[in-house]
Amino acid sequence: MSFKTIIEPFKIKSVEPIKVTTEVERKNYLVNAFFNPFLLQADHVMIDFLTDSGTSAMSAAQWAGVMLGDEAYAGSRSWLHMERVVKALTHCEYILPTHQGRAAERILYSHLGGKGKTFISNTHFDTTRANIEFSGAEAIDIPIKESKIPSFDYPFKGNLDVEKLEKLIVEQGAKNVAAVILTVTNNSGGGQPVSLANAKAVSAICRKHRVLLILDCCRVAENAYFIKHREEEFSKLSYYEIAQEMFKLCDGAVMSAKKDALVNMGGFLALKDKTLADACKSLLIITEGFATYGGLSGRDMEAIAIGLQEVFEPDYLKYRIRSVTYLGEKMHQLGVPLMLPIGGHAVYVDARAMYPHIPVEEYPGQTLVCDLYHYGGIRAVEVGSVMFGKYDDDKKLIPAPNDLVRLAIPRRVYTQSHIEYVIEVFQKILNEKEKSKGFYIIEEPLFLRHFTAKFERVE
Ligand code: F0G
Repeated sequence: MSFKTIIEPFKIKSVEPIKVTTEVERKNYLVNAFFNPFLLQADHVMIDFLTDSGTSAMSAAQWAGVMLGDEAYAGSRSWLHMERVVKALTHCEYILPTHQGRAAERILYSHLGGKGKTFISNTHFDTTRANIEFSGAEAIDIPIKESKIPSFDYPFKGNLDVEKLEKLIVEQGAKNVAAVILTVTNNSGGGQPVSLANAKAVSAICRKHRVLLILDCCRVAENAYFIKHREEEFSKLSYYEIAQEMFKLCDGAVMSAKKDALVNMGGFLALKDKTLADACKSLLIITEGFATYGGLSGRDMEAIAIGLQEVFEPDYLKYRIRSVTYLGEKMHQLGVPLMLPIGGHAVYVDARAMYPHIPVEEYPGQTLVCDLYHYGGIRAVEVGSVMFGKYDDDKKLIPAPNDLVRLAIPRRVYTQSHIEYVIEVFQKILNEKEKSKGFYIIEEPLFLRHFTAKFERVE
């Protein structure tokens, strides 16, 4: 018989203490951080769900790899190992190491972008959009319409709207479309998967119009899990083979290795075209480092090579996706309004629905991240009008389509009892939520304001 409980498929060899704080202490810490969890000290956080990026626990094999890292400036053995692993997975001939995902994005999108160019994606992640807009180009999101309603359950809510894609390419003129970027899973769209059928359709349109297709593959293993279990046609393929099928459809990929390569730092750019790769390589050498290390140490590259293989292990992926789903299902049962179905790396709460008494202009997502910290010492991130809001000419807020809060679960870090605690904290927040208030911004930068903006509570 099979048991209901899915155990963590690892034992813990090394532990990191968590400082248990009181509600009174947290109240002060939150004031000192201007109600922005990004400005909190990590030591004051008990459960850190700010991001799943760079927060994985590495395996014993990866740590052993760290000791074997070859720190040679050129032609390092660890680079050759990483290059071999990435090439086999991506089917790309040209691999450029970078210190993290956004460095790969900056190199590729600054080269392809510029004024008059358009990029089209299921949803551009914030650093992706920022890099594109910084080059002077435009970034257009065309997720499928099913993705717009948080509570609507649909198996591949990360899909890109192929009808709109073809229309947009024709409208803009194919030569002005710098690239189509398929982000798997669709992080800003709720960590929702993209189906292989959708990727194939997108690829066919891109090939027809000779538009470059780039895979943002930082969660490609998690995406493969959903394909295997939700897309009957591909259920016989391994997770690794499913990922390979995705790469075959694309002209290249950017990866933040800090997610599905199970490391704390790293990334790469993978390309099939030599001319494009050569141009990017020059930028890499000018700004990141020589072509055989990018911004990485040999030990980082060794850990990436190992992690990128471990992530496709079936027991790991099953535990990973099921444990995130478990948290989501329990919250759903409590009545927390969620983005459904539960995504791969995170649970997304619909804060606008959770606090109907807080107007969108007062950032209900910020209220939830502050409540989570105040009541439970839990850190999460707002993915709504703080992150994506803009102002019109009269400085009036143009809100984001949704006000979500993301609880991103680090890989192999927290145990079942941590998760049970989070569920209890949500019960407390639900009980007290009528008392919660909105926020206004007192200071903000021009780009990526959510990282450093300062807030004050509406009284
Ligand atoms: N693309 C996607 C889809 C991402 O989720 C991220 C990072 C990046 C690119 C950039 O990679 O951080 O290595 O430079 N996402 C993190 C997050 C920060 O919390 O979701 P990076």
